Amino acid sequence: MDFELTAKRAIVTGGASNIGRSIVRTLAREGWSIALLDIDAPAAQSVAALVVDDFGVECRSFAVDVTDRLAVAAAMHEATTALGGLDVLVHAAGGPLGNGTFFARPPEDQERDIRLNLFGALNVAWAGIPTMVAARSGRVVIIASDTARQPALDLPAYSIAKAGVTAMIRLLAAEVGPSNVAVNGVNPMFTPPTDDEPVGAQSRWSRSGKDYWTPERRDAAVAKIPMGRAGTPQEIADAVVFLAGAGAAFINGQILSVNGGGIV
Ligand SMILES: NC(=O)c1ccc[n+]([C@@H]2O[C@H](COP(=O)([O-])OP(=O)(O)OC[C@H]3O[C@@H](n4cnc5c(N)ncnc54)[C@H](O)[C@@H]3O)[C@@H](O)[C@H]2O)c1
Repeated sequence: MDFELTAKRAIVTGGASNIGRSIVRTLAREGWSIALLDIDAPAAQSVAALVVDDFGVECRSFAVDVTDRLAVAAAMHEATTALGGLDVLVHAAGGPLGNGTFFARPPEDQERDIRLNLFGALNVAWAGIPTMVAARSGRVVIIASDTARQPALDLPAYSIAKAGVTAMIRLLAAEVGPSNVAVNGVNPMFTPPTDDEPVGAQSRWSRSGKDYWTPERRDAAVAKIPMGRAGTPQEIADAVVFLAGAGAAFINGQILSVNGGGIV
């Protein structure tokens, strides 16, 4: 399989902001056709329009809530048809919906975190991967989190959901590996948007994160990272594009932490 010649069609969920947006732009710079799925229709449209302007590639946006299994199936079908096939599926939609310890945060709020982060990933996998299995070719890259390895006390349901996502990645690697489909994960750690980067209204950085990330909390997050700084969306995108490319042809079922050594 010469992946570089054939792998040119990607679906990216959560592509309207921060990490997903950077993944979309990095793939576009390399000439890929992209379908961007996001709940934030205006932000998704504006990212897609800018990508078309900046890179001259095909980029369409589809408004979908990843927690809605039937809507994801419909949007994924429409996107795959528009692209003429699917070579790479990147799932970046997700993030914590709020903070609070296991017994402090209302269970119904924690359920929403699980729905977004675990069921979102399951829905995208259920809808997207069978096309690749049928084609006997494909790569899947899921953005998980190091909270799966070291749970964050103030992000209980999010940590639990991402642990489930990690289990899903490993399970699917075994299940669809025989069909020449590789499934891997990337774990970012404290990766805020860069100052010049627009984020959508549904981004955690404009939603819950806006008030949460005080300068003190930012400093504390950076202090946990041996390299002494936050990650950048581009650094996560570079890891995703590596896992989607020719150099990663035999990597399957692995989770790559891009975290400056924050958790080893
Ligand atoms: N940025 C970090 O520090 C960090 C750290 C660890 C893991 N992650 C993971 O990386 C991924 C991206 O994080 P980010 O910082 O870019 O987040 P973000 O909030 O900036 O972007 C997430 C995108 O997903 C979209 N989205 C939210 N809910 C959705 C839904 N129900 N259906 C469809 N789209 C929806 C948003 O509109 C947004 O465009 C997430 O899975 C997050 O858990 C991020």
